[in-house]
Amino acid sequence: MSSHATPDAGATGRKPVTLHRLREMHAAGEKIAMLTCYDASFARLLDDCGVDCLLVGDSLGMVLQGQPSTLPVSLEDALYHTRAVARGNRSAWLVADLPFGSYEASPEQALRSSVALMQAGAQMVKLEGGGWTAETVRFLVERGIPVCAHLGLTPQSVHALGGYRVQGRDEAAAATLKRHAAELADAGAAMLVLELVPSALAAEIGTARPDLITIGIGAGPRCGGQVLVLHDMLGVTRGRLPRFVRNFMAGAASIEDAVRLYVQDVKAGRFPDPELHGY
Ligand code: KIV
Repeated sequence: MSSHATPDAGATGRKPVTLHRLREMHAAGEKIAMLTCYDASFARLLDDCGVDCLLVGDSLGMVLQGQPSTLPVSLEDALYHTRAVARGNRSAWLVADLPFGSYEASPEQALRSSVALMQAGAQMVKLEGGGWTAETVRFLVERGIPVCAHLGLTPQSVHALGGYRVQGRDEAAAATLKRHAAELADAGAAMLVLELVPSALAAEIGTARPDLITIGIGAGPRCGGQVLVLHDMLGVTRGRLPRFVRNFMAGAASIEDAVRLYVQDVKAGRFPDPELHGY
């Protein structure tokens, strides 16, 4: 988006992606392609390339701000980036993260923070954790706010979890994850990000609750959709990346080609590859 570009209707010409549409896609077995997004220019590009859902993730703390974790991200930060993404987006479904400290105190605090994110342009809010979060999810959903839950490796709890490691490996941990997923679905969560969990466990969760759209990141191919951090899949992130990341810029002629390839490979079930990217 050059500063002098003339706004137009958007390249895909697709109808806005709604929650109803996402549920239809999921019921029909069409995989949902999600990417993180933090600014207007990328929102426009990702939307034009057919990305179904944009996530204003609190990964913005690490990716944009150079923080060591997502913990320092404030609600103000999330609002700033949600407004920017909403301005650039035309038709993708827009999910915004509730940052650490903006929803844990009470359902009322979560409602206040969610209202601010929705007024900034989000169409769904995402919060991390299971158990205690079910009450908050129900409180938000009853008040008209679509909710995406997030289980497995929940980065806001990185210190409690002892690092960025695969979750739900043993029987007890897997049983807890399955119980939390069922409770969140019962509370009305429409979507569930599963991060760094064994592929078989993620598949089991999705099969048990077809009403819940599971979105995997390091959770194998048998989720309802996939998400990656934009800078990881574009090969911008330095250092050693987790095995679930694929650099879609490798061999691509442009960022647009890389994003289109991501959408195609998610939809065709070619990404993630269980051998290369799974646990
Ligand atoms: O903040 C984020 O980018 C996320 C994704 C990794 C799912 O929560």
